[in-house]
Formats: sequence, C-alpha cells, structure tokens
Amino acid sequence: MEQKTINVAMIGQGFMGKSHSNAWSQVNKFFNPPITPVLHTVYGMEAENPAAFAQKWGWANASTNWEETVKSPEIGLVDIVTPNFMHAPPAKAAILAGKKCVTCEKPISGSLDDAREMAEAAEKYNVPSFVWFVYRRCPAVAYAHQMVKAGMLGEILHIRASYLQDWADENVPMTWRFKKETAGSGAHGDLNAHITDMTRFVAGIEIEEICGAINKTFVEKRRKLTGLINQTNIIGGAQSSDAEYDDVTVDDAVLYLAKFNNGAVGSFEAARQATGNKNANYFEINGTKGSLKFAFERMNELQFYDATRPTGVQGWTTILCTHAADHPYVKNWWPDGHLIGYEHTFVNIAADVLSFLDGKEPEIPLATFRDAYQTQRILEAALICAEEKRFVKLDEVK
Ligand SMILES: NC(=O)c1ccc[n+]([C@@H]2O[C@H](COP(=O)([O-])OP(=O)(O)OC[C@H]3O[C@@H](n4cnc5c(N)ncnc54)[C@H](O)[C@@H]3O)[C@@H](O)[C@H]2O)c1
Repeated sequence: MEQKTINVAMIGQGFMGKSHSNAWSQVNKFFNPPITPVLHTVYGMEAENPAAFAQKWGWANASTNWEETVKSPEIGLVDIVTPNFMHAPPAKAAILAGKKCVTCEKPISGSLDDAREMAEAAEKYNVPSFVWFVYRRCPAVAYAHQMVKAGMLGEILHIRASYLQDWADENVPMTWRFKKETAGSGAHGDLNAHITDMTRFVAGIEIEEICGAINKTFVEKRRKLTGLINQTNIIGGAQSSDAEYDDVTVDDAVLYLAKFNNGAVGSFEAARQATGNKNANYFEINGTKGSLKFAFERMNELQFYDATRPTGVQGWTTILCTHAADHPYVKNWWPDGHLIGYEHTFVNIAADVLSFLDGKEPEIPLATFRDAYQTQRILEAALICAEEKRFVKLDEVK
C-alpha cells in the first residue's frame, strides 16, 4: 500500500525552526506515523537566507513570502514558529485556506484577542490545530499525568511551579522578546505559559481565580539591535549599538497565586534573570495520597512520594522514566537508562499530530488551540491582577 504523505510548510527559521525541522525529519525514523511529513517549504526573512537554511535542514523549497507559502495548494500542514505577534496571521490564513492541520509554537499568541480568534477559527472551519507545549511530552511529565489520572496522588491540594532562566541581564540587547507588540509579555508568556499548561495537564484541575500577582521589569532599557540575531539559542550572537537604547515594554518576572476548581491552591513563578538557573522548569504537586516533583534539567526523572506505603518505608523515590513498558514515548527511542533530551519531545509531538490526522487520538492529549486559549486566559488574568492589584476570577477574562 502506498504510504500517505502530507506536505509541511514551516513559517519561521530561528531557534524553534531548528527544533521543528529536526522533529519533522526524525519522526519517520523513530516512530511509524501513518502519514509521512514531507519537508516542503520553509519561510524565513530575506536577510536570514532561507535557501541556506532549507538546504541544511532538508526543506525542498525556501520562501520569503509567508502568505504565498501558507496559501499554496501544495501545502497540507502549516507549522508556525515565528515571534508571538506573528502566530495569528499565518494561523488564521492557513485555517481559511482549508489546510488539513495547523500547528503553532507557544504561547498561542501574544494577545488574548488573537488567541480567542485562533481557537474560534479552528473550530469554525474544523481544522485540527495544536500548540507545541512540548514539556507535556517529556516521558516523565506524560507519566506524571497518567499517575494523577490513575488516582495515585489522591486529591490534589497544592501545586508549586516555577520556570527560571538567567539569560536576560542588561547586556542582552533589544529583541522581539522584550517588546509588548511583538511578544505580548516577557517571562510570563514565555515561561509561565509552559508551567501553566504543564500543571493543568498533569493535575487535571483548572484555575478559577488569581489571588495575587507581581509583574516586574528589572532592565527597563536595552541597547538597540543593529544586526540579525544569529539563531543559535534564545539570544544567539545578537549585535547591538552602544549608543542607542530602546524601552523594554514587557516583564522580566511574573509571580502569581491561584485557586483551583477542586479547592486546591497553587503558586507560579517565571523569571529570566534568576542567576544560575539555565532552564529550571519545575513543578511539585501534593495530593492526599502522594506527591510528585519534576525538574526539566533532570528531565528523565520523576520524584514520587507514596503516602500509602507503610510509614517506615515512606520517602521520596526517584523514578527513571526510561522503561518502554511503562513510560510514554520511550519505546520509540532507546533501551532503559539511555537518556533522551529536549529535542525528543518535539519529535514526540510530531508523531502524535500525524497519528491524529489519520484518526487516532494520542495516548497523551495534545494542546489544541482551545486548550492553549484557556492557558492564555489564565496568563491574562494574572497580568490584570498584578496591574489592578485585585483578585481576578477567570470568568471575567474571555
Ligand atoms: N516550546 C519551546 O520550548 C519554545 C522555546 C523557544 C521559543 N518558543 C516559541 O517559539 C516561537 C519562536 O521563538 P524562537 O525562539 O524560535 O524565535 P527566533 O527569534 O529564534 O526565531 C523567530 C523566527 O521567526 C521569523 N520572524 C522573525 N520576525 C519576524 C517577522 N517580523 N515577521 C515574520 N517572521 C519573522 C524568522 O524566521 C525568525 O528566525 C515563539 O513563539 C516562542 O515563544 C518555544
């Protein structure tokens, strides 16, 4: 039987452009998706030399016109990896063009209006649309989700999540990440988006009210960028002018407190100048029967405290989540104890999206546009709480 294929167009070619190119090209090697992705076209800005990127990463064509690329009848799946303000325009264009699927990086958008419109458009035109909340697809996080679902934690009482990085000191020049019009928010949309999604997903409970929040910008001006960012990591080899400065219009840190619909309480913290923390994405969930802890920098491990064991043998257990029979996604990778990394989580998403398009619900739920809009509502509520210094019910934020 002939293998089904889908032509993919990727919009953007920075940090995430690499991780998604890798995912689309690796997925067929490690999984057996029912549909094979064809790396058809990558869009990049002219100055980025998309042709060179295409050649290096295996895309058949390069484009400097995203509108044309998204509308091309040859394309079946549009994958968006641009700055946050540039998520809604290609997503909505792809949905209106009747694509088979749209996928988009997180946060779904920089603005709640865009997020709502994206979710509504996907549903109105019945286009499967997903957000790459990749941390759901660390085997340890996916397993934590299954443990909670199986009742191993009992009733959830507390959630404590933080996502700390330290790359944004005053020497880092202005980029799209520091402007409200391009990013929407700073550490909040970048990092709190992840831990908000991840803890909603693992704990299976929903935030009802934000009960306190702080929104802080430590570095208020940054040197203007003069050249292109060299896309090697978050700030790459950005070049800047020593003379000209520009205002930062987003937060460097946002902390918020929340009440959940089951009566649980939670705290969330995002910061990008937390010295010494490189990618410290962390959660702890405490239930009546047990607790879990996850720290991304040890992403293959999960800490579990089982309070149903005899008291004399209770204690934190380190679970190495690399056992094919138990831990999601692992059977597609390596034998026990042969660790996986960041990039594998992207391949895991690509595999699930391709299976979904052939009618199979993934074992671990994907974040739909609707789901990501819900996370965006929570982020928005936290910003309102910080700005207006009052508790904010989720119901008021639509
Ligand atoms: N899931 C994760 O772990 C993760 C990590 C980093 C970034 N992200 C998200 O991925 C998205 C992209 O982030 P990144 O780090 O790859 O950014 P980046 O700056 O490295 O790359 C963005 C790319 O988008 C394109 N682009 C930039 N400005 C544009 C414009 N004005 N118009 C059209 N295209 C433009 C360019 O091709 C550029 O290379 C963001 O939404 C970000 O939040 C997710």
